[in-house]
Amino acid sequence: MTLSGQPGEHEGKQTMSIQTIGIIGAGAMGSGIAQACAVVGLNAVMQDVNDAALERGVRTVSGSLDRLLKKGTMSDAEKAAAMARIRATTRPEDLAAADLIIEAATENEALKIKILQNVDAIASENTIIATNTSSISITRLASAIKRPERFVGMHFFNPVPVMALVEIIRGLRTSDATVETVTELSTKLGKTPIGVKNSAGFVVNRILCPMINEAIFTLQDGLASVEEIDAGMRLGCNHPIGPLALCDLVGLDVELAVMEVLYNAFNDSKYRPAPLLKEMVDAGLLGRKTGRGFYDYKK
Ligand code: 3HC
Repeated sequence: MTLSGQPGEHEGKQTMSIQTIGIIGAGAMGSGIAQACAVVGLNAVMQDVNDAALERGVRTVSGSLDRLLKKGTMSDAEKAAAMARIRATTRPEDLAAADLIIEAATENEALKIKILQNVDAIASENTIIATNTSSISITRLASAIKRPERFVGMHFFNPVPVMALVEIIRGLRTSDATVETVTELSTKLGKTPIGVKNSAGFVVNRILCPMINEAIFTLQDGLASVEEIDAGMRLGCNHPIGPLALCDLVGLDVELAVMEVLYNAFNDSKYRPAPLLKEMVDAGLLGRKTGRGFYDYKK
């Protein structure tokens, strides 16, 4: 017996043409992925649970394209065409016609499993289902899907319109054709894909999130101020923004969720989340999205 996803038992090796992408979640990642698709001429169906979330998502895309208008790298007509390619909906059934559905919901395994089971029930047999999880095992999430060979990790980075990387994560049963299709698509979106084996946090977050967590420990230990810690990493290591500002950008809740996944997966104390991080999440100080994290964005 061979497992599908291993040599010898793949569905056809041919890649699929992707024209319509369904995206679950209209937050920073979901709306960013929708924008990346729309600007290269692909159709995006962005689904979320309520109109307010969708309106925020569409506003984010519009504001992000306005930056390109201001720079003169996009015309009004191009912006209008890109916006017209994005359909916002609260109805999961509207994702049924998509060639690829990317789940970009909150970083919570139980929630993602539930969403994936629902998606699996409405998606056609040929639809590829991907997750933008930051850290959770692709093989485990694939258990929610009837055809795990058509399930894959596509990990985008925030802000999606600017960041050039997509990690393509293969679960134990992901087929070659699925990996090749989403790799080709990532290139079409103007991103550089890297292939990564399934493991908690994959490559980038396994390196990045412990670094941010350690920065929070240095703050908690009173070694320096928020501004000084960030200046240290900007000026001393040429990072574009400091680790605490970056944590505010990705969300303290996301940073905590990733550290918990790493800690539970590897059982290694080096991944223990900083107590200050936990306390700030408990206090609702989640970063830019709530107006305050390590910095105050309401000022
Ligand atoms: N949409 C479109 N364009 C944007 C944008 C957005 N949302 N945000 C920034 N830009 C563009 C600007 O227009 C500008 O373009 P230009 O250079 O052609 O003029 C350029 O990006 C730089 O923007 P700004 O001058 O406004 O601001 P900064 O110089 O501070 O750059 C940044 C912003 C690119 C976000 C920079 O701060 C950066 O690189 N930060 C690090 C981001 C990072 O590490 N992301 C990864 C997070 S980890 C992750 O996402 C994984 C997850 O699973 C946790």
